[in-house]
Amino acid sequence: MESFSSINDIKNKISQWKSEGYSIGFVPTMGYLHDGHTSLIQRANNENDKVIVSIFVNPTQFGPNEDLDNYPRDLKRDTELCAENGADAIFNPSAREMYGDNPYAYVDINQLSSELCGTSRPGHFRGVCTVVLKLFNIMTPDRAYFGEKDAQQLAIIKKMVLDLNMPVQVIGCPIVREADGLAKSSRNTYLSSEHRKAAVVLSQSLALAKTSLKNGERDAEKILAIIGEKISSEPLAKVDYIQVVDLKSLKTVKSIKDDILVAIAVHFDKTRLIDNFSFKIK
Ligand code: PAJ
Repeated sequence: MESFSSINDIKNKISQWKSEGYSIGFVPTMGYLHDGHTSLIQRANNENDKVIVSIFVNPTQFGPNEDLDNYPRDLKRDTELCAENGADAIFNPSAREMYGDNPYAYVDINQLSSELCGTSRPGHFRGVCTVVLKLFNIMTPDRAYFGEKDAQQLAIIKKMVLDLNMPVQVIGCPIVREADGLAKSSRNTYLSSEHRKAAVVLSQSLALAKTSLKNGERDAEKILAIIGEKISSEPLAKVDYIQVVDLKSLKTVKSIKDDILVAIAVHFDKTRLIDNFSFKIK
């Protein structure tokens, strides 16, 4: 496996691979890799000749009071994990390499970015879309892999690719969880042992909601109440949002008639965790 930090160098490598007829799978990450990330790398490895993993803590998707400076980093371990899981190249640019001096252009999918996480993280998805578009332009991948853990991000990237006729197939991959159900996340490392124990309430509350939906409940208010009640049983959990939205438009629904996304964001001290599941009606 090779490591690149220069845009030109990785582009040259990709041109060479393409001229040899290889297909390219791409996994964008911010590093500090865990089993969720490696599941994407493995899937990319199964479906493509060459796999590139980007490791870039993207400053433009962090708000002024967010954790950019403290975001966990371990390039040595990430490099090992990428190699073990079948990556052929890592792209680890500096912020200057990615953004140059004074960038003006950006991408914003306003209609999908103001819902859910967009409410408490204004500008976040603009940063995500812009960096992902730039990375797609650099990598020109056949397929790109994203986790359903960040369901809103996945929906927004799919819409960006559709609206802008980008020649890449976006593939969503299932959420990988810890043994007790907590969705794996680089941010789980911020949790104290007490908060880590309490955080299991996220997946537990969603499991209750899923059972209720499977039993035929179609009133979104009832689903919200089931989740809210379970989370409020945990005194360390502070709800940011609990929402039932249309899976495509991400707009709030009252009566559940089409496929939905049930999504939650909860604070444990200074750490904000998200989880979700989608429920298909047909
Ligand atoms: P990051 O949080 O590092 O996540 C990289 C990819 O791993 C995302 O597609 C995310 O959904 C996926 N992922 C994270 N935890 C997962 C889990 N438990 N199970 C399955 N997949 C999981 O998301 C980002 O980085 C950035 O916003 C990025 C797209 C790289 C743009 O900067």
